Amino acid sequence: MIDKSTIDAVFETSRLEEVIGDFVQLKKSGSNYKGLSPFTNEKTASFMVSPAKQIWKDFSSGKGGNVVAFLMEHEHFTYPEAIKYLAKKYNIEIEETEQTDEQKQAATARESMYLVSSFAQSYFSETLHNSEEGKAIGLTYFKERGFDPESISTFFLGYAPDKWEAFTQAALDAGFQEEFLISTGLTIAKEEKRFDRFKGRVIFPIHSMSGRVMGFGGRILTQDKNAAKYLNSPESDIYQKSKVLYGLYQAKQSIAKEDNCYLVEGYTDVIQMHQAGIKNVVSSSGTALTADQIRLIRRLTPNITLLFDGDPAGLRAALRGVDLILEAGMNVRVCMFPQGEDPDSFARKTELEGLLLYLNEQAQDFIQFKATLLAEEGKKDPIRKAETIREMVQSIAKIPDPIKREVYVQNCSLLMDISEEVLFSTLAQLSKGSKKPSVRKALKPTMELVNTPTQKVDVRYELEYNIIALLLLHGQEEVEINDVVIDTESDGELSFKTTSLHVKVYEKIYLDLQQDEVELSTPTFRKLYEELLVKYTTEQPLVVETFIRDLAPEQSALVTSIMMQDEGIPLHDWARKNIFVKEKTKEIGRWLTQTILNFRCHLIQEKIGNLQKQTTEIQHETHNEVLEEVQAYVGLRKNLSERLDRVLF
Ligand code: CTP
Ligand code: MN
Repeated sequence: MIDKSTIDAVFETSRLEEVIGDFVQLKKSGSNYKGLSPFTNEKTASFMVSPAKQIWKDFSSGKGGNVVAFLMEHEHFTYPEAIKYLAKKYNIEIEETEQTDEQKQAATARESMYLVSSFAQSYFSETLHNSEEGKAIGLTYFKERGFDPESISTFFLGYAPDKWEAFTQAALDAGFQEEFLISTGLTIAKEEKRFDRFKGRVIFPIHSMSGRVMGFGGRILTQDKNAAKYLNSPESDIYQKSKVLYGLYQAKQSIAKEDNCYLVEGYTDVIQMHQAGIKNVVSSSGTALTADQIRLIRRLTPNITLLFDGDPAGLRAALRGVDLILEAGMNVRVCMFPQGEDPDSFARKTELEGLLLYLNEQAQDFIQFKATLLAEEGKKDPIRKAETIREMVQSIAKIPDPIKREVYVQNCSLLMDISEEVLFSTLAQLSKGSKKPSVRKALKPTMELVNTPTQKVDVRYELEYNIIALLLLHGQEEVEINDVVIDTESDGELSFKTTSLHVKVYEKIYLDLQQDEVELSTPTFRKLYEELLVKYTTEQPLVVETFIRDLAPEQSALVTSIMMQDEGIPLHDWARKNIFVKEKTKEIGRWLTQTILNFRCHLIQEKIGNLQKQTTEIQHETHNEVLEEVQAYVGLRKNLSERLDRVLF
């Protein structure tokens, strides 16, 4: 755990505009900065950064928050990773809490291994670019493969000299301990001898999602039949093959942006596709995806497209290991390349446009792909057919979403020419053992839910949002409000009198809500409301920066959104609209009165609705009572509406 003092120091030191400036081109715009959204492909800038409040808001994706939220969204860091990133950027020493000596030692050992690996990456890259051997052999090879200089630097490619201990010696000379050279596998120790694992190979460094070097792959350049074409770092405390995806560091933003991840076989496929312009691509080193790797992708997108070579081996590979991905609730598509092509060769000779076209046209939903394939087999061999049904349903059973399962059953029934009933009963048999609810049972209510219109504007939500916005933006200000009361002096006809009074925004809201005995219905709003009132009633000033830091993620997202709306929309840009202080207090007062009266109207409307529903259900004798109550509420609503009209004009 990172110590609280470190976290505080990080927040105090970090400047949001500097941190974001490393990723987004920002231009000054009034008191804010503006830039193109890093989360969408927008053409006009709607990404705003407020240096004064230290918050950002992306109007095109709706995302927003403080400095840590930005790094978590953009770099897909975890919270501790974001804090560590900032600490490093601002040279703040990280204090860890509650670590035993053993934990400390393990952490230090891991840290040393990372440092050695980072040194090795620089060494290999240096050798590639600046040594005669590196240039003549390594660079020439990469050029022949069609890798351009940009790809070589994006993927930090390198070259290891063809000498037994050139690297080991260089690392020892630079002060690294032999222990860590060996534990990372960069150096192989045999009795008294030490030699370089990657000797004479071109090097593909493997990075973690946050960009630390964890291991390497090395490709041999000679035709030696006895040596493996590719060598990889051995498993270690910092490199676990099953938890790593090659190219993820370079691909993560694009995966999130495109909302899809392409999976290919190896290093060269990733690099060639990336170079061709398809950057949302990673490799799992030729094996089926593991649960850990799926989790890494899941953080960025629920969609994955598997790319396979166009041969029988590729076809077989396409069917393997996919169930685990389906089980994670991901949408899987597969795409086969033409006979004899792999993504590397195909991307190399195809223009981006053609490549995209091919991927879009050829990528097929996995379940459909499998069903078509099995249907073909079933046609040729009727005895196989029963088996294929089972195989098919096995995949469908892995899908956690019952609606999707139902859709697939219908789909497969058509594709494989089998009745839905047969598929459903096989599915029921399969899921009997598991905890998953059977499709039919789980489906009914969900389907009904799906059919109800969801686009309806939620009036109550809007009003509660306004209440929170008023509290946040102007809670402690004293404003002038015009309230309309029934004029008791003029007898006979009901008439209204407008009175003007000065109140603090938070007091008015608090008293009115309390009088009506209502609570905000959205939990996020309710929590914020309570926290804000505690602050105001104890007369603490509201400092947005620190206030946001202590909130739960949803609440801080909401606060950010409100604060930045105030920046982005000129509605409340008093100065520009030439509204002076007196006017401003009136304007806020109007907003306040409107909101509260509207809120009351809405509550009454809800009440009337409920009562009317009751009248259809209850006995005759109480019927009239309820109707009377409804009448009373209708009158009250009319009264409120008139007050509203007067406040408005
Ligand atoms: N690969 C591997 N280990 C091997 C062979 C292949 O890890 N023994 C991976 C590599 O990541 C490589 C990908 O599979 O990028 C494609 O394999 P292959 O075409 O055999 O490698 P290339 O380097 O492209 O070799 P060639 O030039 O002969 O096509
Ligand atoms: Mn190849």
